[in-house]
Amino acid sequence: MLRWIFIIIFFSVFEFYAFQAIKTITNNRSILLVYFLIVALILGNLTYHSLIFDRSIGFTHYFGYALGLFLSLFVSQLCIISFLFFEDIYRVIQGIYDYFTYNLTDDFIPERRKFISKIALITGLIPFSSLIYGMFYGRYNYKVLKYSLTFDNLPKEFDGFKITQISDIHCGSFDNKEKVKYGVDLINEQKSDVILFTGDIVNNKASELIPWIDIFKTLEAPSGKFSILGNHDYGDYANWKSIKDKEDNFNLLLKSQKEMGFELLLNQSKYINKENSKIAIVGVENWGEGFKKKGDLNLATEKIIKEDFKILLTHDPSHWEAEALNHDKLINLTLSGHTHGMQFGIEIPGIIKWSPVKWRYKQWAGIYNRGKKFLNVNRGFGYLAYPGRVGIWPEITVITLKSSMPTI
Ligand SMILES: [Fe+2]
Repeated sequence: MLRWIFIIIFFSVFEFYAFQAIKTITNNRSILLVYFLIVALILGNLTYHSLIFDRSIGFTHYFGYALGLFLSLFVSQLCIISFLFFEDIYRVIQGIYDYFTYNLTDDFIPERRKFISKIALITGLIPFSSLIYGMFYGRYNYKVLKYSLTFDNLPKEFDGFKITQISDIHCGSFDNKEKVKYGVDLINEQKSDVILFTGDIVNNKASELIPWIDIFKTLEAPSGKFSILGNHDYGDYANWKSIKDKEDNFNLLLKSQKEMGFELLLNQSKYINKENSKIAIVGVENWGEGFKKKGDLNLATEKIIKEDFKILLTHDPSHWEAEALNHDKLINLTLSGHTHGMQFGIEIPGIIKWSPVKWRYKQWAGIYNRGKKFLNVNRGFGYLAYPGRVGIWPEITVITLKSSMPTI
């Protein structure tokens, strides 16, 4: 109850402040009424969906859109309010200064306020339109990111071996089969030797996967398709009537992965053989700082040796520094996802790479290395909560392995 009172007070003050910007610019009652109705509809819609939210059903598309519209409005209003707030602070400081210097002329300039309100509104339109664009276009704006990594213990037979990594599919969020199929076809077009999926195939429940199995089972790679689980795949974010229901859900997820042709690695490893050589794919269960820690790297690597070239699949990139980097079996390449790059940020290759998620995860998107040990954090194929992406697009990673192993 107290939480709701706090929310109501916060938004009343917040909306009153934002409304001042519109009122400063125009007194046209029709415009003010339209603005008021839009705000009331967006806030009312989100409140309604929050009140009827049912954890046993999980996140619905309607809730996603309500949240997306609210975020679009909220971020743009926050932008507007910041302008007005700094102008108000400036005005207070100037007032105090004038009082103590006996400069008692009325220095409030309505024209300045009007000008700043206009700038604030125009600036506020940028995040608003970006977030709306992200919902209608950004979330299916698949990008193929290509890297080439060289290792001195990669067998020569695997020189040029191509990996496609995808992550965070979050089937339950999708609502457009054509667009998802386009993304899946794009993965196949890479003609990689192996496809590696690094977890979070659903949001809450295995049943979300059912309508998408036929599309994802068309993925093809001659050396196989391997997957792991992410924090969303255990059914921990839904309410279950009984423990058995939760177990059935988990078994359905395992069965569906099999149907899609993925070999799920649960703290296990598999060799890929080529001529007389082999490399190991190691897959652990979810292990994340602040999340489930079922991943067992020792168990997953017990059947392989230090000299093997290894690719580790672990959903959460925090596992890299915590365990993988200094593991005594020597992990050459780690593939993760999980962060989604927060589905929001700015990226201009070679110039800027920024997202608020960098304050939570040290490694949050792209390639990182410590000497010859590499980590790739995939930005995710799908989306969660906010049904869109702005600046951080859905990703298909293609990594070509290069060998610098000396020939004997
Ligand atoms: Fe995820």
